[in-house]
Amino acid sequence: MAETTNTIKHVASPLARQTLLDGDLVRPVAGVRPIRLLPWLQVVKIGGRAIMDRGAEAILPIVEELRKVLPEHRLLILTGAGIRARHLYGVGLDLGLPVGSLAPLAASEAGQNGHILASLLAPEGVSYVEHPTIASQLAIHLAAARAVVGSAFPPYHHHEFPGSRIPVHRADTGAFLLADALGAAGLTIVEDVDGVYTTDPNGVDGAKAELLGETSAADLAKQETLPFDRALLDVMANARHLERVQVVNGLVPGRITAALRGEHVGTIVHTGLRPL
Ligand SMILES: Nc1ncnc2c1ncn2[C@@H]1O[C@H](COP(=O)(O)OP(=O)(O)OP(=O)(O)O)[C@@H](O)[C@H]1O
Ligand SMILES: [Mg+2]
Repeated sequence: MAETTNTIKHVASPLARQTLLDGDLVRPVAGVRPIRLLPWLQVVKIGGRAIMDRGAEAILPIVEELRKVLPEHRLLILTGAGIRARHLYGVGLDLGLPVGSLAPLAASEAGQNGHILASLLAPEGVSYVEHPTIASQLAIHLAAARAVVGSAFPPYHHHEFPGSRIPVHRADTGAFLLADALGAAGLTIVEDVDGVYTTDPNGVDGAKAELLGETSAADLAKQETLPFDRALLDVMANARHLERVQVVNGLVPGRITAALRGEHVGTIVHTGLRPL
């Protein structure tokens, strides 16, 4: 009896006797590369403002393009928030609402856009799934259908960092966090411009904007304007699986298809991942 008690008490763990706050002590255990959970998965983030807000004119050709690539790829399609979230930020900030209250409200628009896209892809067996389903049942959904749609917004909600009045972790960050955590084959960010430029091509200095064929998260940190969340640069710096993402223009037919096939048709952004 006593022996049994001893066995239960002495659970072997390489981390049992040390603080988790000392990186040097934890590294031998935590420093190994995690396994890729869904190495065949392609994640596609569809811009809320760039694509969804444009309505049928932009959405229908993209739905058709996605439909055609389904035999080739299994997709997690994630949607961003658009103009309705921007209006909400405006009203909420005017009222003095904290960022943790605004984040879930903005996230609900990303979900609305996902429902719209999933409805249009429903004839292909595609449905919208909520975050808990993505977290625990994505594999079974993708065994039943070639793609699922979800919200790209990460569920920081009331845990959103209070550094800024507007949530810093938005759709691009959420899409990358998911793709990297799942060890996906790739992440394609779909915008309404050809990729990342040296400055906003639709801004006041637009005439001077130059398209960057290939760049890195570290180099983009020096740039003032970006077509994705600035917080994405921080998470890219700590990538565990994804070595690159590609930003493409979804308004040009064929670009999403080409990007999924590994072709260079937009801006390739290298993350901070170094080969072990
Ligand atoms: N350096 C840059 N390179 C390219 N586009 C830029 C740059 N800076 C700003 N932009 C602008 O970003 C716009 C895309 O806007 P935004 O990223 O907010 O939309 P979205 O991706 O649809 O939003 P969401 O993340 O809510 O889904 C482009 O149309 C472009 O005008
Ligand atoms: Mg964007």
